[in-house]
Amino acid sequence: MTELKINTSNTLSPVSPLLYGIFFEDINYAGDGGLYGELIANRSFEYYDSNGENDLRMLCWERTGDCDFSIKSRFPLSQAHGNYARLTGTQNQGIRNLGFCKEGFAVQKDMAYRFSCYARNAAPISLIIRLTDREGIPQCEKKLALVRAGHGWTRYTMTLTASKDCKYAFLEILLGKEGSVDLDLISLFPADTFHNRENGMRKDLAEMLQALSPKFMRFPGGCIVEGRSFDNMYCWKDTIGSLSARPTNWNRWQMKEYQLNGHSSEDYFQSYGLGFYEYFQLCEDLGAKPIPVINAGMTCQWHEGLLVELDRLDKWIQDALDLIEFANGPSDSPWGSIRAEMGHPEPFGLEYLAIGNEQWGEAYFERYEAFQKAISRYYPQIRLITSAGWTSEGKDFDTAYAWMRENKDKAYAVDEHFYQSPEWFLANIRRYDNYDRSLPKVFAGEYAAHTCGQTEKRESNWYAALCEAAFLTGLERNADHVVMACYAPLFGRTSHQQWQPNLIWFDNDSVYGTPSYYVQQLFSNHVGTCFVETLSEGTFTGIYSSTLSEDGSRLYVKLVNLSGQTTSIKLKTDRPVESCVLYELSAEIDAVNSHASPNNVSPSARTLPLLSSELPELHLPGYSVTVLDLTL
Ligand code: AHR
Repeated sequence: MTELKINTSNTLSPVSPLLYGIFFEDINYAGDGGLYGELIANRSFEYYDSNGENDLRMLCWERTGDCDFSIKSRFPLSQAHGNYARLTGTQNQGIRNLGFCKEGFAVQKDMAYRFSCYARNAAPISLIIRLTDREGIPQCEKKLALVRAGHGWTRYTMTLTASKDCKYAFLEILLGKEGSVDLDLISLFPADTFHNRENGMRKDLAEMLQALSPKFMRFPGGCIVEGRSFDNMYCWKDTIGSLSARPTNWNRWQMKEYQLNGHSSEDYFQSYGLGFYEYFQLCEDLGAKPIPVINAGMTCQWHEGLLVELDRLDKWIQDALDLIEFANGPSDSPWGSIRAEMGHPEPFGLEYLAIGNEQWGEAYFERYEAFQKAISRYYPQIRLITSAGWTSEGKDFDTAYAWMRENKDKAYAVDEHFYQSPEWFLANIRRYDNYDRSLPKVFAGEYAAHTCGQTEKRESNWYAALCEAAFLTGLERNADHVVMACYAPLFGRTSHQQWQPNLIWFDNDSVYGTPSYYVQQLFSNHVGTCFVETLSEGTFTGIYSSTLSEDGSRLYVKLVNLSGQTTSIKLKTDRPVESCVLYELSAEIDAVNSHASPNNVSPSARTLPLLSSELPELHLPGYSVTVLDLTL
């Protein structure tokens, strides 16, 4: 038996209050077709082929009946929405939206769905707005009278209430009588979004995030920030204001080379409906600090690696300054006033900004320095995050650290990424013990244990999660220097994916967390503000971490048993224990969760009986993570 003595009076190092957060990127339909609550795919008829070879403007739409359905661009709704649909036909002819990945969308009996569209009709006409099931059987419909006939666009809204549960529902828009109508920005949202936001988030997915208690949210990526061409670069200014002012961009993850299960993702675009305003608002709703990542004037270095010339970088730098003003500026400042018009006069309280995603090399650092110079001149309080490149070791990584040694004060933190084997995570538990504390702090901005190589199926099984848990104890021990960490990617749509493993999987109406998700959840919800001394007598076949809450009343002890055998522990504290809740995660090492068995690997909780203010002997199952939440 091992005895662990926790000396709460010997606090060894502070633990960053932001240690556990989340990283969001629109990959695997995480945004459009995922977290973003919009149910209509290609709502603005703007989809196009990035090579200009194919006309995708009708993608995800089909005719019902024999109506004339064409795409027009004369006198569009806005500059950003240059195309619209024209329907001409007789009564009950119209169009049907097939949803993201042509899988329709789920509706729930008695739940309300907000329909809206822009319409233009020369003569008075009405539309029939209808929800059907996959077989085309109507389940609810309403008539929409287009009262304003003329040359202008009018926005119409109505609420539809589903009459039954349906996992694969479709939206149909039919002509109420013979005639013609132009339509654009056709939208359907569940009324019940996360925090009831109108342009809000899918509730079940956002609640999974809420349960992680994320202390920060990194957004919007990821390689998507960089893009594959200058036009494809993520520009935050395209993502704010009214939806009709936000252009559509293609999603770099739609490319054939990324599809993992043979399905095409040709409908994978960025509507920017989940834009920077919604992101800041979501951070507020989650109680997380925003950590935006902006384009550093470079496209993805894994591919084309196009560079914005240094003498043309001003626009990119100005975008960064304007983003800070959008987030924090007074409501009468140019960008702050747009935030206020959108409904948030108070500042969002932006404190951090990452320049570039996964960048490396000289070209990056000369661009980073140009951003840093301007931002620290106008906003010296903003903490800047630089990049250590695509991996956690090797030439590019060493070059980044060499730059930091020369430029210690030019970054608050450096973003390190590691997609490595479970064994790497075990071998690196002490990675940060001897890191030079005079250098920028570490943001472990993307990590995940990959059970196989890059091309094989990489499962998020219990072994991967167990090794991540062991590694996280090392982060807690060094959380004076490793100030933030987040798993990546966050979401994956089970039917269409470009990357695995992911933390959370979903389909139209169901969602489940991987074993790694539950490790994150347990760790994030039980972390104190300082790391305390824990002495071990005997050989413990695992690793541990003890942290104390700010007021000293709660002690969190994490024990990761890396052996396959049950091991016994006697835990002693220097202060009497009032109560203790024990959370346990254990499973066979190859166990996974799935839509069919979402809780196959999930924590159990129990209150421990105490003997004269002491904990009983603990028996930690083989391959387990145990978290003790002690009230002292
Ligand atoms: O998380 C998936 C990808 O991995 C990110 O887009 C990129 O930053 C990294 O290469």
